[in-house]
Amino acid sequence: VSRVIPVDTFDLVIFGGTGDLARRKILPGLYRRFQAGQMPEGARIIGAARSEMDAEGYRAMIREAIEEFVPEEKRVNAPLDGFLAQLDYVAIDATGTGGWDRLAEMMRADVVRAFYFSVGPALFGALAERLHDHGIANEQSRIVVEKPFGRDLESAGKLNRTLAQHFDETQIYRIDHYLGKETVQNLMAVRFGNVLFEPLWNSQYVDHIQITVAETVGIGGRGSYYDKSGAMRDMVQNHLMQLLCLIAMEPPSRFEPDSVRDEKLKVIRALDPVRPDDIVRGQYAASGDTGSYRDDADNPDSRTESFIALKVNVSNWRWAGTPFYLRTGKRLKARASEIAVVFKDAPHSIFGEEAGRHRNILSIRLQPNEGMTLGVTIKEPGPGGMRLIDVPLDMTFADALGPEGEDVPDAYERLIMDVIRGNQTLFMRGDEVEAAWAWTDPMIEAWEEDGRRPCSYEPGSTGPEEAQILMHRAGRRWREIK
Ligand code: BG6
Repeated sequence: VSRVIPVDTFDLVIFGGTGDLARRKILPGLYRRFQAGQMPEGARIIGAARSEMDAEGYRAMIREAIEEFVPEEKRVNAPLDGFLAQLDYVAIDATGTGGWDRLAEMMRADVVRAFYFSVGPALFGALAERLHDHGIANEQSRIVVEKPFGRDLESAGKLNRTLAQHFDETQIYRIDHYLGKETVQNLMAVRFGNVLFEPLWNSQYVDHIQITVAETVGIGGRGSYYDKSGAMRDMVQNHLMQLLCLIAMEPPSRFEPDSVRDEKLKVIRALDPVRPDDIVRGQYAASGDTGSYRDDADNPDSRTESFIALKVNVSNWRWAGTPFYLRTGKRLKARASEIAVVFKDAPHSIFGEEAGRHRNILSIRLQPNEGMTLGVTIKEPGPGGMRLIDVPLDMTFADALGPEGEDVPDAYERLIMDVIRGNQTLFMRGDEVEAAWAWTDPMIEAWEEDGRRPCSYEPGSTGPEEAQILMHRAGRRWREIK
């Protein structure tokens, strides 16, 4: 029995169809959905970009991209030609008139129309306006926009207002690809599908929560974007914020777009401003053959952070007194993302202090080895008396899902299919994005004003020493990055 949910047939136009994201993620993702049998009969994907080329040229370009980004063993038995036959191309001038009439002619009646803005936000307004003026977008059409969605509250508000001139909020799909990750959705299933966790999910039982997104890559190649952004704008305002929301939110009444998004918004609005003492910013140093952050950014005076750690308070009834520690950075020891819910000590140890004190920790791994582990305390086996040890109750999703588990769709695939289905649950609403900026803006302004340099850290480390101190101050420790 196929577990693939069928979707209606569609015309999907990808503006920026020759760009990096389209070649790396969007088209390989669509190809995998094609392989999985989810691409409906007659579906069309239309690349739209500045370059003059015909459909054949575009197919050749995408063939190369898929061969590069989908490993060969994952391409067996899958007719790449069949997929490519569904592609078309139109050369378009986003801010002019060229190509728009042609695109209008290409659109078919009675199929879902979706427009993916895989371009910089500076073009969002021009695209929205032209789609509207040429009658290409209709009331059922959807647009998909990528981050960065603004760089502060003001610019995000402006973008929202620009899009709102031509599209209703129910037509706008703001992608945060972290919401498309399998484990992130499992987080909701585990929280709200079991009775086990929810009663403990509050400051009475949870000591603190750690959210780590560690990467080994530097910013090489993206310096011009990244240096104006930094870890706070690039990762915390969106991805880590979304993870925090899903952990902290109240149970939504339904797994439906506004039910979920209303609850996330309440969390963001409940965040206290973070005290400067509770923020550590870092920049990776040079090491061996690898250049420093400043080399990669080609900016010898850069004060942009490639690492950030912060202690965040969610000021509401459920979480007051339970801090959320967030950390993310480039060029760290390992590529590892984890949410750890660290429970409090048992109120009293009946075994005496010499048995050792143990804590339950629920670890939710986003990548690699997606899965969850609950650390539980048991008696050390053997004749040594009542000594306690921690063992993992382990659930690796790949095991649970069996051989088909390999076909778990990646974030982009799932999200694009949600767009076609018209399901906004895993997309950010405009007010959510603005609330997140309203929280980050004052912190960014404060450090831009004081002009302090981020702390230096060694590539391959866990970040600057100061981030350790942030935890130690409260008698806590970061989880290992591995
Ligand atoms: C992107 C950021 O949104 O997410 C990148 O711009 C970052 O800087 C990436 O590397 C991380 O995504 P993932 O899915 O590899 O964890």
